[in-house]
Amino acid sequence: MASSLFIFFLTSLSNFLPLSVLSATVLEDLATLTPPPDFTTTITTNCLHNPLLRYCNNTSSSSPMNITEIFRSTIVPGHLCNESKNPNCIDSFPKIRIHGRPKTAALYLSFNFFWKYCPLTVVEIQLVNNSLKSEFPTNVLSCAQIRTLDLSYNQLSGSVPVQSLSRLTSLTHLNLSYNRFLEEKISDSEFFNRFNASSFIHSGLLPDVKRNKMRVLVLLIVFPIVVILLCCCLGWLCLKRPDYLRRTCRRSHKLTSAMLDAATDEFSDQRLVSKGNGVDIYRGTLRDGREAKIEVYTEKVSKEKRREFEEECEAVLKLRHKNLVKVLGWCNSRNLRALVTEWTNGENVETWLSSSLASSWRRRLRVVMGVVEGVCYLWEQWPEITFDLNTSSVLLSDDDQEPLISQFKIGDGNSSSTNIFNFGLFLLEMITNLKPNEEQEDSATRYLEYIRVHCPDNVERVVDEKMKIEERTLEKVKEAIALGLMCTDGSPLKQPSFTQIYDMVVSLYESSSRHH
Ligand SMILES: *[C@@H]1O[C@H](CO)[C@@H](O)[C@H](O)[C@H]1NC(C)=O
Ligand SMILES: *[C@@H]1O[C@H](CO)[C@@H](O)[C@H](O)[C@H]1NC(C)=O
Ligand SMILES: *[C@@H]1O[C@H](CO)[C@@H](O)[C@H](O)[C@H]1NC(C)=O
Ligand SMILES: *[C@@H]1O[C@H](CO)[C@@H](O)[C@H](O)[C@H]1NC(C)=O
Ligand SMILES: *[C@@H]1O[C@H](CO)[C@@H](O)[C@H](O)[C@H]1NC(C)=O
Ligand SMILES: *[C@@H]1O[C@H](CO)[C@@H](O)[C@H](O)[C@H]1NC(C)=O
Ligand SMILES: *[C@@H]1O[C@H](CO)[C@@H](O)[C@H](O)[C@H]1NC(C)=O
Repeated sequence: MASSLFIFFLTSLSNFLPLSVLSATVLEDLATLTPPPDFTTTITTNCLHNPLLRYCNNTSSSSPMNITEIFRSTIVPGHLCNESKNPNCIDSFPKIRIHGRPKTAALYLSFNFFWKYCPLTVVEIQLVNNSLKSEFPTNVLSCAQIRTLDLSYNQLSGSVPVQSLSRLTSLTHLNLSYNRFLEEKISDSEFFNRFNASSFIHSGLLPDVKRNKMRVLVLLIVFPIVVILLCCCLGWLCLKRPDYLRRTCRRSHKLTSAMLDAATDEFSDQRLVSKGNGVDIYRGTLRDGREAKIEVYTEKVSKEKRREFEEECEAVLKLRHKNLVKVLGWCNSRNLRALVTEWTNGENVETWLSSSLASSWRRRLRVVMGVVEGVCYLWEQWPEITFDLNTSSVLLSDDDQEPLISQFKIGDGNSSSTNIFNFGLFLLEMITNLKPNEEQEDSATRYLEYIRVHCPDNVERVVDEKMKIEERTLEKVKEAIALGLMCTDGSPLKQPSFTQIYDMVVSLYESSSRHH
């Protein structure tokens, strides 16, 4: 029995380290023990008294002496002293001091058997600076008799079994400094009241004052700085590049000059589409990927005018009609006034008129029809918004060749008489593919005079040759020219109203579809 215990002792030990290391360490410690003077008599008396004691069967084993040695230094002293009831029994054995042996410290700790029967002779456990990397060695708690426990300068981690430590009633010196334990509320435990903070320096157990100071520092200084920086960034974004913010966070249609700068590569020449008449037109790409036409008004205006411009932009933004180009937003900063509308790849009506697509009377009427619809919508719903109507400002949409009125005159106060006049010119141009020569003075008057001369008797002279007109539509073309001339009449009183124009164009358009 005893021998099997010994073998267990050895095999469990050899699980951790080769035996050669063992003989030089634990057993060496044990071997240096010398039995107290009354050792043999005590054992004999005990065995006589109680033969069932483990150490009594030494004869049946093959190497009784070594077993005796083991027991002498481990279990036997405990047993003996338990039995002897002699209060000085333990002290009569030489003490094992487990310290100053960095190489063997881990062995002692990992050797469960040793600790389980922690020799009562062990009174001091000093495992300072031993690179121990485990959790708190709870087996140490079996050595209830120890007076010193110094585990400082290791890398012990995890939590310390605060409650169980109170089993170490004899402990007078405790040092857990310089480890990596988890923070514990050890101040609540009565056991730890016996020790002061110098037992737990940098152990992780106590809240780290320095680290707390750092935290306070971070909270008081760094955090506000970060918040201020964030606010600055956000403020900058709001002011300069609101298109980087979420849609809900920004005033959706008011664009900043930085946004337009980015959309047009800082108004580069490659992006410039046309220039002149106080308006530079750029083709830009907004951050959400939409292509946009950006009309930049180069004229410097007063603060009052800028305010009006903004009001008008807000109004124009609300326009929703299939024959009006869609306004995406505007910019009204000190150094940049611009209106941003949807980009259409389609050509303008002026170029379209010279193409073969414009050879049908019906198709031309359809464009006029769309323009009239757009104009009437503006006139009825948004009388305050004026527009620049001519064949170059009306675009054709990419997909269905729907005309789009694209230039809204802002801050220009056109009267409806002017608008009707311009529509008249537009209509005549749609029929004749001729327009007033802008370089000449009085060009519009001359142009109208020219048409009047040939109308209605020599209409063929003025009608665009490309347009194939049958006999029966000629009457309608004449009607249309008459309407155009009426609109361009010098006296506003003789001009038809938008309602009348609308009705006439509708009837022209309908008659043209009947012929088809
Ligand atoms: C000791 O040996 C005797 C007989 O050999 C046996 O009866 C007894 O149980 C043994 N005691 C122990 C503690 O093993
Ligand atoms: C152990 O055996 C030896 C002889 O082999 C004997 O002298 C001694 O008394 C024995 N010890 C015990 C405790 O029985
Ligand atoms: C204990 O065993 C070792 C070998 O393991 C041996 O050298 C030694 O003599 C033994 N001790 C006694 C007292 O028999
Ligand atoms: C000593 O006796 C106590 C109870 O009296 C017991 O719990 C303890 O295990 C004994 N120690 C040894 C080493 O046998
Ligand atoms: C721990 O031991 C190493 C060498 O083993 C030594 O360099 C170091 O100074 C020791 N640290 C302390 C705090 O004793
Ligand atoms: C802490 O206790 C140790 C003894 O355990 C003592 O030497 C030291 O002076 C104490 N320190 C304080 C600050 O009380
Ligand atoms: C624990 O160890 C550290 C480091 O060696 C030392 O500064 C401290 O005074 C010790 N504490 C006690 C209570 O001995």
